[in-house]
Amino acid sequence: MADYQHIYEHHADRYDVLVSHEDHEGQLARALLELVPGDGLEVVETGAGTGRLTRLFAPRARRVHAFDGAAAMIDVARRRFEDAPHVHCGVARHHALPLQGIEADVALEGWAFGHAVSWNPDGWRDDVRAWVAELERVLRPNGTVLLIETMGTGVETPFFGGHSLEPFHDFVVNALGFSHRVVRTDYRFESVETAAQTLGFFFGERLAARVRDEGWRVVPECTGVYWRKTVTPPGR
Ligand SMILES: C[S@@+](CC[C@H](N)C(=O)[O-])C[C@H]1O[C@@H](n2cnc3c(N)ncnc32)[C@H](O)[C@@H]1O
Repeated sequence: MADYQHIYEHHADRYDVLVSHEDHEGQLARALLELVPGDGLEVVETGAGTGRLTRLFAPRARRVHAFDGAAAMIDVARRRFEDAPHVHCGVARHHALPLQGIEADVALEGWAFGHAVSWNPDGWRDDVRAWVAELERVLRPNGTVLLIETMGTGVETPFFGGHSLEPFHDFVVNALGFSHRVVRTDYRFESVETAAQTLGFFFGERLAARVRDEGWRVVPECTGVYWRKTVTPPGR
């Protein structure tokens, strides 16, 4: 398995190139618009990385607070949004977002919480529960928590052939009560070799070899979108 921490700390630009090829049909963007419609949104994001999801929300946001634990990733995001003063990017970890007294409309993470399954095999459920609570802390009543996680790259069916994030899916849906849907976020590249090299850098040589064998310029991917509304306390 790739050393993801190393990638986030030392190869943020390369990561950004990878995700710029993802969701070439814009299916995730459409799903997010359906789930969180409207303009003038206050948005909080943790594990924002180089700003792939931030970019989808920024055009219809009043303010965006985007955080990531890796300074190199946030540097790329800062460059991306240097002409967008309503987007604030900072370094922070999921469990302690440096925000007080705000009531956001949506608080989200994408492809970040799922790392806990391999990084903290014995305690990831407690981590995810605490991180969701931290997202809820900065939300208004009836705001939306959004989680986005992979269900497999190089597959057309979620978790086809087994996947380490199946327990994450079960936990979020069955224990935390999130609704969910599946979207295709297929990658598109200029050539098979670019696809193999760009995906191989992050997902490893096995996927790179498969891309070459299949002759894929368009590489299938399934992504889970999970959402839950915060409860409105009586009398508010
Ligand atoms: C796969 S990247 C996803 C980045 C971005 N959301 C995207 O869609 O491209 C995972 C990100 O989660 C961040 N991350 C992982 N654990 C974290 C934690 N405990 N606190 C803050 N950021 C974390 C990493 O630094 C990395 O940028």
